[in-house]
Amino acid sequence: MNVAIIGTGYVGLVTGAVLSEIGHNVICLDINEEKITKLKKGESPIYEPGLDEVLERNIAGNRLSFTTSAEEAFENAEVIFIAVGTPQGEDGAANLTYIQQAAKDIAMHINRNLIVVVKSTVPVGTNDLIEETIRTNAIGSFQVDVVSNPEFLREGHAINDTFLGDRIVIGSENEHAGSTVESLFTKLNIPFLHTNRRSAEMIKYASNAFLAIKISYINQIYNLCEKVGADVNDVADGMGMDHRIGRAFLNAGLGYGGSCFPKDTEALAYLGRENEISISLVDAAIQANKEQRILFVNRVLEHFNGNVEGKKIAVLGLAFKPNTDDMREAPSLDIIRILSADGAEVHVIDPVVKETKLLAEVAVTHSKTLEECVQSAEAVLLVTEWEEFVRADWEELLALTKNATIFDGRNVLHNHKLISQVV
Ligand code: UGA
Repeated sequence: MNVAIIGTGYVGLVTGAVLSEIGHNVICLDINEEKITKLKKGESPIYEPGLDEVLERNIAGNRLSFTTSAEEAFENAEVIFIAVGTPQGEDGAANLTYIQQAAKDIAMHINRNLIVVVKSTVPVGTNDLIEETIRTNAIGSFQVDVVSNPEFLREGHAINDTFLGDRIVIGSENEHAGSTVESLFTKLNIPFLHTNRRSAEMIKYASNAFLAIKISYINQIYNLCEKVGADVNDVADGMGMDHRIGRAFLNAGLGYGGSCFPKDTEALAYLGRENEISISLVDAAIQANKEQRILFVNRVLEHFNGNVEGKKIAVLGLAFKPNTDDMREAPSLDIIRILSADGAEVHVIDPVVKETKLLAEVAVTHSKTLEECVQSAEAVLLVTEWEEFVRADWEELLALTKNATIFDGRNVLHNHKLISQVV
């Protein structure tokens, strides 16, 4: 099938790459010329394991192309995906400017019956709005069906998650449109759930918020474990063995960051307020997540009796989680800003993020090697659990420090037999 995709962020790019990999003709549209120029050469603008190979193969096979021209993108499209961003507004509500623009662009170019698939995470009722916007702005009278198809991939695992997903949710108000979208994905061999559009939109928010609640819950249990002498990893293992609970998303530590959980929990909380329905569990998860970072920094400050002035502190990890270069809502940002404002000499290292505009105002030194980063440090903070950090020779690293204490923000070093200085 001929598919056009609006937006080449994580979701759009991975969807385009995977649809081309399973045989569809895909053209991706973005307003960012620099990005499109890079993509045309097969260079991915994001760090995502496995993506480069899929891009390369399908560009070479003429199944995947990129453009900044809406006219070119929509010319032969039978199905158009909307995968633009829905950033968080001041009040927590999702900002739908890009979505509305995409709907208008489609309307201006439509000259035949069309199916529009919405991949972006959008508040309940937005798919209705998109259909209305296209219909009222269309230059001819054609049948437009908007179908909700929320995305469940994780950054850092995007390709795998798309090929091996747990479910594909299709929310439509028209059976034919729903089954056409299903036919796009049948090769993936993933179970389908068909529902109406509003339920599909809600499934995405409810799933993300549930996982965020799970993380905040284990983090609060973790804080209590520390006080009463219990081991949170064993507690999580024991809880996770109950198949009704499951072990996934019970890793305690610095809490969640990234472009999804923080934004989607806020958007769901906003939806609750707007509809005067209490979803206090989500509010509590948001609050607990904010506190978790502060608790971590406070542990470091307490260790130095409240004074980190002139102390060298090594921060391992900048990205919000391993296997991504995404810094949005990363715990590292809050931690570094606070410690640096308190006068600490902060040195950082990340295997992928080598610099970031987000810390432009902050005095931090980017180290080239792990050894350089921890050399003479008085504290080492493990902030992102990159494999190379977890597997590092910690005995050797510790020997380079000034008898540093290690603050394990991800609870991954506790079983490390050689380390006696982990808190
Ligand atoms: C999340 C969801 O997992 C995806 O299903 C969804 O498609 C995506 O949001 C989205 O809405 O686009 P993502 O944000 O890429 O994916 O990353 P996750 O691997 O889910 O991690 C989210 C955050 O939770 C990270 O900060 C991670 O460090 C934290 N986390 C995760 C924990 O603190 N503990 C855990 O046990 C698991």
